Amino acid sequence: MSLICVADFEQRAKQQLERTALDFYRNGAGEQVTLGQNREAYKRLRLRPRCLRDVSQLDTSCKILGQQLNWPLGIAPTAMQKLAHPDGELGTARAAGQAGSIFILSTLSTCSIEEVAVAAPETCKWFQLYIYKDRSLTEQLVRRAELAQFKALVLTVDLPINGDRRADARNQFSLPPHLRLANFQDELMQGFVSKLGGSGLNEYVASQFDPSISWQDIKWLQQLTQLPIVLKGILTAEDAQLARNFGCAGIIVSNHGGRQLDTAPATIEALPEIVAAVGKDLLVMLDGGIMQGTDIFKALALGAQTVFIGRPALWGLAANGQRGVEQLLQIMRHDLEITMKLAGCPTLRDIQPSMVVHESSYSQL
Ligand SMILES: Cc1cc2nc3c(=O)[nH]c(=O)nc-3n(C[C@H](O)[C@H](O)[C@H](O)COP(=O)(O)O)c2cc1C
Repeated sequence: MSLICVADFEQRAKQQLERTALDFYRNGAGEQVTLGQNREAYKRLRLRPRCLRDVSQLDTSCKILGQQLNWPLGIAPTAMQKLAHPDGELGTARAAGQAGSIFILSTLSTCSIEEVAVAAPETCKWFQLYIYKDRSLTEQLVRRAELAQFKALVLTVDLPINGDRRADARNQFSLPPHLRLANFQDELMQGFVSKLGGSGLNEYVASQFDPSISWQDIKWLQQLTQLPIVLKGILTAEDAQLARNFGCAGIIVSNHGGRQLDTAPATIEALPEIVAAVGKDLLVMLDGGIMQGTDIFKALALGAQTVFIGRPALWGLAANGQRGVEQLLQIMRHDLEITMKLAGCPTLRDIQPSMVVHESSYSQL
């Protein structure tokens, strides 16, 4: 089967991945309502294309946090990428660089901060941070990201505890012994096994991550580092305003790919209230459910300045390592270009809010 869209890569990955890894990657929390809605919500939006607008030359470039990028799509942090392919995070980071995209490295990666820095020196890299109960450990992660020339810290704020991921509990999800959480030296921190009969990751998070973190910890982090701080996991106008007031450099509108609070809104549903509240003075980005060019286009039209993909990159990696991610990104870029041309938008600035409407605006017919 030739691979021509993200869904094809997903199919291929399903055939290739070992069951426990596939379940960890694809599932959401609870009844998986939010997981499904992240995709479904895009289908409820209609595009209003404009015509006769000379689309012979297309410009998809953009500037995010001072970095020039080829197009407004980056790779969201996803944990333990060597479960998908031995290339792991090194392959994904290199593929992102090839595509002129941002790569965000997870704290829970199977290649270390330093390994990724050496393997992908040209890639624009951000580091995703979880705050550990052990604050000196957290501080060390920040210092290492700075030293390795990562350009921003992405603090994930939607995971004080792990969501109710039922498949992982059923599978007693543990990190296979040949892999390790590469950012940690301490043997105890390098892996996790299920000891209580449920998800081993759940137990790891409960014992290590600090559930007491609050807005005051944003100040703590700002005192620690000069790096711009991006909050990932914002879903309301209220929290977006707080992020702005606390001096964050940006936010990622995200529900963690439907893996945390089930029945939280789809990210594309949450985006408009957030853009209305802070869009003029804060960098607003989004992830969740992005599968094709029209999805990217809709998020941009509704005010996101760039979007990120989580699972699709994992499907590319599972299908064919670094090369698979490269192919997947090429396909998505081409798909965005087709959408822009057919909608009459030669540049990203031409993508306007009026070009996206809810399907109910047409329901009188
Ligand atoms: C397998 C998997 C692992 C993830 N690991 C992390 C992580 O370590 N840190 C984090 O902030 N988000 C993590 N996420 C959430 C993603 O960064 C992102 O928010 C989500 O995948 C976007 O939705 P999408 O998969 O529909 O593109 C993970 C998501 C998946 C699917």
